Amino acid sequence: MKKTATFENLPHYSNKKGTSSVVNIGRLVLFLVCVIGLTWLLTIFVLHSPNPFHKFMSKRSYPRIKNNELNLEKYYNSIDQITPVIHPQNENVEGKCDLFKGRWVPDPNGPSYTNWSCPTIPEYRNCIKFGRKDTDYMNWRWKPDECELPRFNSKTFLKIVQGKKLALIGDSLARNQFDSLLCLLSQGDTPKEIKDVEEPFRTFYFPTYNFTLMVFWTKFLVASEERGNSTISPVFNIHLDKIDINWADKLPDLNYAIISASHWYIRENYLYGGGKLIGCIYCKDPGVHDYGLPFALQKAFATTLKYISECKECRKDLLTLVRTFSPTHFEYGTWNTGGKCNRTSPITEEQVDIEGTKYERELRDVQIKEFDIIKNTANGMMFESLDITKAMIMRPDGHPGNSWKDRWTDGKNRTDCVHWCLPGPIDVWNDFLMAVVQKKNGSTRLL
Ligand SMILES: *[C@@H]1O[C@H](CO)[C@@H](O)[C@H](O)[C@H]1NC(C)=O
Ligand SMILES: *[C@@H]1O[C@H](CO)[C@@H](O)[C@H](O)[C@H]1NC(C)=O
Ligand SMILES: *[C@@H]1O[C@H](CO)[C@@H](O)[C@H](O)[C@H]1NC(C)=O
Ligand SMILES: *[C@@H]1O[C@H](CO)[C@@H](O)[C@H](O)[C@H]1NC(C)=O
Ligand SMILES: *[C@@H]1O[C@H](CO)[C@@H](O)[C@H](O)[C@H]1NC(C)=O
Ligand SMILES: *[C@@H]1O[C@H](CO)[C@@H](O)[C@H](O)[C@H]1NC(C)=O
Repeated sequence: MKKTATFENLPHYSNKKGTSSVVNIGRLVLFLVCVIGLTWLLTIFVLHSPNPFHKFMSKRSYPRIKNNELNLEKYYNSIDQITPVIHPQNENVEGKCDLFKGRWVPDPNGPSYTNWSCPTIPEYRNCIKFGRKDTDYMNWRWKPDECELPRFNSKTFLKIVQGKKLALIGDSLARNQFDSLLCLLSQGDTPKEIKDVEEPFRTFYFPTYNFTLMVFWTKFLVASEERGNSTISPVFNIHLDKIDINWADKLPDLNYAIISASHWYIRENYLYGGGKLIGCIYCKDPGVHDYGLPFALQKAFATTLKYISECKECRKDLLTLVRTFSPTHFEYGTWNTGGKCNRTSPITEEQVDIEGTKYERELRDVQIKEFDIIKNTANGMMFESLDITKAMIMRPDGHPGNSWKDRWTDGKNRTDCVHWCLPGPIDVWNDFLMAVVQKKNGSTRLL
């Protein structure tokens, strides 16, 4: 009887007492035959069906864009083969996993908030409200190759940042992340807006956790002034060695600073060093040297990170995060020549146009280069990165396109393939933020 004890204990095999061991052995054999049979049937099904998850997949729409090797069938099949591998959760030992290296996988849980549960989604990011019909773009999560990236949890996050102040510093993409974070956090505590600053600076206060979330607007991180107007947009003088004091003088108050910049650099601008004109980006003046965008961006990040690392009035526990370049996805044209971004699902790393995204990766690389330098030289100050570029290059489906409120401003029918829909793939930036903040808070496990 002892031999069958464990067998008897299986809930759905528990049986009348007193059956003989011969009968029980017979049942054991029957059970094993069933298990083997079922496994065999399942294997046959998986191997012989062209796509065992066809029903699930057929709900998704496949953009099939010519000359773009968009073989999504292969992609989904490879996901199907990969996802069943369960990684032990304690694999996330600090340092072992690169959070920013991975791929997008389907997420049946969908987004953490909707345009109903988050009342602060700005109209120009509320894609669903302004006509976006497809919803698949919201149902993906980022899967780092070596570990799991936990889903943002407002309570977990708010507990760690209790009594602290966090600011996103940069242009409208920083504001985009701020709006995402505000939505994610308002699922855990209702924030109050504090009107102590002028737009485009904003402050929200979470009373239960005494947490303050801010966004500081800056075009370049470094100082600048308007120089004039080109045919299509204003032109600026950028002082590569001078910090923009409008945000920098608020730094001593902060526990967390997330810095970013780039999109305002992508136009005709003039570069200054020591108060003197040293060159330009995209200008056509014969006497002025065009240094190119990466040069300017790298110098600006060097200045900014040096300024922060030498900030005497700043808190010793200030954690600065460098958020890397956010890629744009205009296809069939540029932003002012009818370009659009009408895809409805992510692309894989293999489908990324390496030549076409060289520029994006170069901008990311100079930011990371300066981050690495400061990380290794800053005494005591903490620096981390939110290296989102690669993940977002794979999300041509995450932009508002034509689905945003003010697309008719200036009498033009403008397509936005720069910012990101809320909810949408940009929410992953805050998953990354939570993982980094949690790591810094001393937990070795990210889950
Ligand atoms: C996107 O737009 C292009 C060009 O107008 C069109 O050929 C393509 O079918 C569109 N894709 C989707 C998914 O609507
Ligand atoms: C949410 O989106 C729906 C469309 O799905 C729209 O009708 C509604 O007005 C939106 N609500 C808010 C509060 O934005
Ligand atoms: C809230 O946090 C601030 C620091 O950000 C601190 O000075 C203040 O004492 C805290 N207030 C309460 C009520 O805990
Ligand atoms: C550039 O144009 C804008 C309006 O288009 C105007 O407000 C601004 O003053 C101009 N700047 C210069 C320096 O001419
Ligand atoms: C705006 O432009 C897009 C393509 O860029 C087009 O699909 C759409 O119909 C236009 N809207 C109007 C109202 O003209
Ligand atoms: C982690 O966060 C908690 C809650 O704010 C705080 O009490 C603790 O000191 C933090 N630990 C570290 C190492 O920062």
